[in-house]
Amino acid sequence: MGAPVMLEVDSVRKALDVRGAWLDVLDSVSLSASDGDWVTVIGPSGCGKTTLLRIIAGLLEPDDGNVFVNGECKHRLGSAALLPQSDTLLPWRTAVDNAVLASEIAGIPRATALAEATRLFERFGLSGFETMYPWQLSGGMQQRVALMRTFLSGRAILLLDEPLGALDPLTRASMQDWLLAVWNELRKTIVLVTHDVEEAVVLSDRLVVLTPRPARVLSEWSFEDLPRPRSRGDLAFMRRRAEILAVLLGGTA
Ligand SMILES: Nc1ncnc2c1ncn2[C@@H]1O[C@H](COP(=O)(O)OP(=O)(O)OP(=O)(O)O)[C@@H](O)[C@H]1O
Ligand SMILES: [Mg+2]
Repeated sequence: MGAPVMLEVDSVRKALDVRGAWLDVLDSVSLSASDGDWVTVIGPSGCGKTTLLRIIAGLLEPDDGNVFVNGECKHRLGSAALLPQSDTLLPWRTAVDNAVLASEIAGIPRATALAEATRLFERFGLSGFETMYPWQLSGGMQQRVALMRTFLSGRAILLLDEPLGALDPLTRASMQDWLLAVWNELRKTIVLVTHDVEEAVVLSDRLVVLTPRPARVLSEWSFEDLPRPRSRGDLAFMRRRAEILAVLLGGTA
């Protein structure tokens, strides 16, 4: 409904060469996102989630199937910004210089990028920390700088690979609320990978659950009937979380 489909992953297959042996990683994975959608991908460790994001980003080509961005298949490199799993900031760059890194690489003039970054430092709760080095920031703040860098890349699609995975549960919950507020304001299309079912239900419009490797889509969920902001203690919320967990643990839809 509404916005046209911006991202379409259609029956993507991928095998990777692991020490000379071919390993089937993705077995016909499909998903789609409209402009401004938040789609989350969840699945067992090692099932192929990072591989899927790398394919969407254009860093890897599928063996079979296609990825379309705005209906375009061949020239998608540059449409999506990938925040890699366990990404770290460059220790010799200040927070603001880390934040503008992706913009620099994308060729956005430094003055433009710095002006935009300065505006976002306030929105990301980092005012006053612009000239600090990563070691002077808490883990949550470092992760916000990395997220800001991804938002500042100028790309329409953000691929976030377990961006909150390393944080303690309290920081993580407040970062989820904050990330939702930022997304509400900036309205990017997001594909989030997480291991956390609660995080998926708090944040996304839809969830794609993958099987163990080679990944196939085990089930898909829509949370459009759960109005935002979603309360983690709400009965409908807890019921949905329990249903998804049962599917994940049982391995059947
Ligand atoms: N560059 C690579 N070359 C060869 N094999 C790889 C490569 N990257 C990943 N693999 C293998 O492909 C499989 C899928 O890896 P991937 O990183 O996509 O899984 P994942 O779902 O993101 O796992 P996790 O939840 O632990 O992050 C793994 O079994 C891994 O060993
Ligand atoms: Mg991964």
